[in-house]
Amino acid sequence: EEQLYIKHRGVYLSKLLISPESLQYFDNFTFRPDDIIIATYPKSGTHWMQHMVSLIFSEGDMTSVDTLYNWERAPWLENVTAVALNLEERPSPRVFTTHFPYTLMPQSFFEAKPKVIYVMRNPKDVFTSYFHFHTIASFLVKPGSSSEFLHKFLDGKVVNGSWFDHVNSWLKADDKEHILYICYEDMITDLKASVAKAAEFLEKHLDDEVMEKIAEKCLFNNMKQNKMSKHPDTPTEVLDQTKTKFYRKGVVGDWKNQLTAEEAERFDAVYADKMKDVDHNFQWD
Ligand code: A3P
Repeated sequence: EEQLYIKHRGVYLSKLLISPESLQYFDNFTFRPDDIIIATYPKSGTHWMQHMVSLIFSEGDMTSVDTLYNWERAPWLENVTAVALNLEERPSPRVFTTHFPYTLMPQSFFEAKPKVIYVMRNPKDVFTSYFHFHTIASFLVKPGSSSEFLHKFLDGKVVNGSWFDHVNSWLKADDKEHILYICYEDMITDLKASVAKAAEFLEKHLDDEVMEKIAEKCLFNNMKQNKMSKHPDTPTEVLDQTKTKFYRKGVVGDWKNQLTAEEAERFDAVYADKMKDVDHNFQWD
C-alpha cells in the first residue's frame, strides 16, 4: 500500500492516477453552475454514464464517442490527466467525472452548485467488479484472495475509500435538488427510462426515437465495441485486458459467483450497520 497509495484526508488514492499537483488543481478548480458532474464510487457504472451523457448532449450522434476518449469527454477532475486538458477554457456545458466522496469536493463546487449525476450499484457487485479490476490494474495493489480483498473493501482500505462512506456522503449532500441519484440496476432494468430520466435532469428535450437510439448505443454489447471507452491505448503493463476485459460481464448479481454464504452474511451485517441512517430506496433492497 505504502508504495502505490497516498492517504488524502483519510482516503486512499493511487499515486499513479493522482499527484500532489493534480490534487491542488482539483482543490482550486472553478466550477460553473452549468457544469455536469458524474460522481461514482469505482465500478458502479461510470463509463456507462459517461457514454450516456455524451450521447444525450450529441442527441445520439456518435462522433464524439467515436473520436474522443471517455476521459477527454468527461475528465476525471482529480486525475493527472485532467491537468493538461485546458478545462478552464472549455465551452459550457462541460462534463466532468469524479470518484471523490462529497466531503472531498472543493470549495467552488459548493458555491456554483453544478448538476451531479450520482450512480450507485449494489456494493456486492461493486466488490466483485473491483476485485477483478485489481487483478489487472498495475496502479492498484494486488488484491490477494477474494476473502482478503473483502476485508479491505469492508474496512474501506481501498482506493477511493469505503463504499459505505462514499454513498453516505453523496446521499447526505446539502443541495440534493442538484443531484440525480440513479442505480446501475435501474439502468439494467430499463435503459431507455434511464436515458429519459438523465435527459430530463439535464434539461435536454429529446424525441422518443432519439432516446431509443441512445439506449441502444448504451447496451453492454454495443459499448464493448466502442474503442474510445475501453482505454485502448493504455499499455498491457498498466491495464492487462488480456486477462480480464474492462467490459467484463455487465450484469446484476455476479457477486453470487464471488462471495461464500458466510461472506455474504458478513457483508450484510456491515451494510446494515453502515447504512442504518440512509433513507433511500435502492434497487437492490
Ligand atoms: P463488471 O466488472 O461487473 O462487468 P466503471 O465504469 O464504474 O469502472 O464500472 C465498470 C463496470 O460497469 C464493469 O462491471 C463493466 O462491465 C460495467 N459496464 C460498463 N458498461 C456497461 C453497460 N453498457 N452495461 C452494463 N454494464 C456496463
